[in-house]
Parts: sequence; C-alpha cells; structure tokens
Amino acid sequence: MENKILELLRQSDNYLSGEELSSKLKISRQALWKHIQNLRDVGYDIAAVPHLGYRFISAPDRLFPWEIQFHLNTKVLARKLYYFESCNSTMDMALKLAEENVPEGTLVVAETQTKGRGRLNRHWLSPKYKGIYLSLILRPMIAPNQAPLLTLLSAVAVCQALESFCGILARIKWPNDILINQKKVGGILTELNAEMDVVRFVIVGIGLNVNNEKEYLLDSATSLKVEKKVAIYRVGLLQEILRSMENLYFDFQKKKTKDILQLWRGFALSLGKRVRIVSLQEEFEGQAIDVDEDGSLLVRSDAGIIRRVTTGDVVHCR
Ligand code: BTN
Repeated sequence: MENKILELLRQSDNYLSGEELSSKLKISRQALWKHIQNLRDVGYDIAAVPHLGYRFISAPDRLFPWEIQFHLNTKVLARKLYYFESCNSTMDMALKLAEENVPEGTLVVAETQTKGRGRLNRHWLSPKYKGIYLSLILRPMIAPNQAPLLTLLSAVAVCQALESFCGILARIKWPNDILINQKKVGGILTELNAEMDVVRFVIVGIGLNVNNEKEYLLDSATSLKVEKKVAIYRVGLLQEILRSMENLYFDFQKKKTKDILQLWRGFALSLGKRVRIVSLQEEFEGQAIDVDEDGSLLVRSDAGIIRRVTTGDVVHCR
C-alpha cells in the first residue's frame, strides 16, 4: 500500500486530498493516515495541510524495494527483491534463497553487511547507507567454465551505468575490480553452484563505494562522491546497473559473447600493460594482451609464451 500511495503522490504536482487518495486506494481516511505515518517513520517527507491534503516532498536515501522497482522496467532482474537493513553478506542470503528455488533474477540488497566478502575471502567494507551491496541470482544454461564471463559482463554493466548515470569513466582491472583514476571503487564476486558439466545457479555480488567519505576509505580505494564531489542517488544508479546488466545478460544468453568481450576490452585497464600475475600457485610477469572467449586473461610471458590466466591478482608494473 505504501508504494501505491507514493506513486499517486509523486504523480501529482499539487496537494492530493485525503478523500481523493483514500477513494483511489479504496481504504479509509484513517488507514491512509496510518500509512502516511509509516512512510514518514522511514524518512519520507510528506506535507499534510488541512483542507488541501498531502503532498510528496522528498524520499530518504534508502534502497527500499518499491523505490528500486519504481519505473525499473526490467523483465527478469529484480522482479523479486529482498531488502535488508543489515545482514552478514548478501551472498549468503542469496545462496540460501537460491537453494530454496527463488526465480532467476532475484535481487538481494542490503544497507550494510557485517561480513561482506570479496574475492579470495577478503573483507568488503560495507558502511551503512553509503554503498551499494547487492547479489543477483542467475540460472543460466551454461557449462561451469563459462561462468567467469558473468564477472566480466557484470563489470561492463557497472561501467556502463557509471558512465550514463554519473558521467564517470571507470575502468576494469581483470577480472573484477572497478577503478577510477587507478583507485578501486567497486568489485564483483561471482559464486557458482554447479554439477560437473552444468551450472545450477550463479550468484553475482556487486559492491560499490558510492557516498563514502575519503577519511573512511583505504588509500587504494575511492568512492563516487569523492570523485564527483557530490552525493550520488543510490537508487537511480542501482536501477541503471540492473538495466545494463539485463541487456548484457540477454546478449549472453543469445551467445553474443564476442560483443560482450568487445565492450569489456573498451573498459579494460590491463590490456597492453606490463603486469605481474600473483596467484596461489605462482607469480610471473608479462604483457597482458587480451581476454579469451571464456574470460581468462592472456598474458605473454617474458619467454614469449602466451599463458591463460584464470585466477589470481593482476598487479600493474611501472
Ligand atoms: C572484490 O572486489 O573482491 C569483490 C567484492 C564484492 C563485494 C560485494 S558487496 C555485495 C556482495 N556481498 C558480499 O559479501 N560481497 C559482494
């Protein structure tokens, strides 16, 4: 009901009388007042003037489901949505939901995470109301070795959204780091549940530093607010990420991998650079030359051998 009230209030430039609202919503004036109070309690500013009625003034900066879904227009992503003020990790929540068979595209979003995690079990700082922390449940019909492409696809979606929504040119450091001016602003974590030859589901986690202040960030990190010097409307940016991601995901399902890789190359920071590859097994240096059909990084070692890198970190050499 709250989302219907908001929709009507937002559509109107002027006051809407309690009578009009309650008859449109088919609820009593008293019930309407209660719902307006609920909205005010969670931070909405709604003016109420005797004889005139109600008027929408402003929304709080919260990732409420009805805000995310308002005019989102996606077909699959975020049609179903779980919102948490706080949780351990949206990855864990999504994993549980995926095992309970929620539909493809289900989104889990949190205002803060107490155990946010990154690749290689690193901690992901998730200060409350500052960032975007989300996990999407996907059920693509693919072999497990195709799953890394979803990391690349998601990184492209984030970069496209940063460009269209914030006017920021972000870059991707293989495989999952989103950088602005060489500093990390976001990351992607892809977790897989698969049999030997087929994927059951994939959970794509995206973390973005949005309105974090400089003093609370690591030296190697940045936020959109630090870069743009203005606060960013998180709901709008999140919607844009979902739209980009859905378009790319549909392309992925239509096997348009080459197109996605081409977009990825356009945002890639590592290609052509001298890099050091640091993985659990080994370390070596070479020149990053391209990304392969399955999302692995192709590196020409000093011995002239082209190596396919599937795991590990890329360090840019000076
Ligand atoms: C990385 O850079 O290593 C990936 C970071 C991914 C962080 C996001 S935040 C939302 C989701 N929940 C998590 O616990 N991790 C991912």
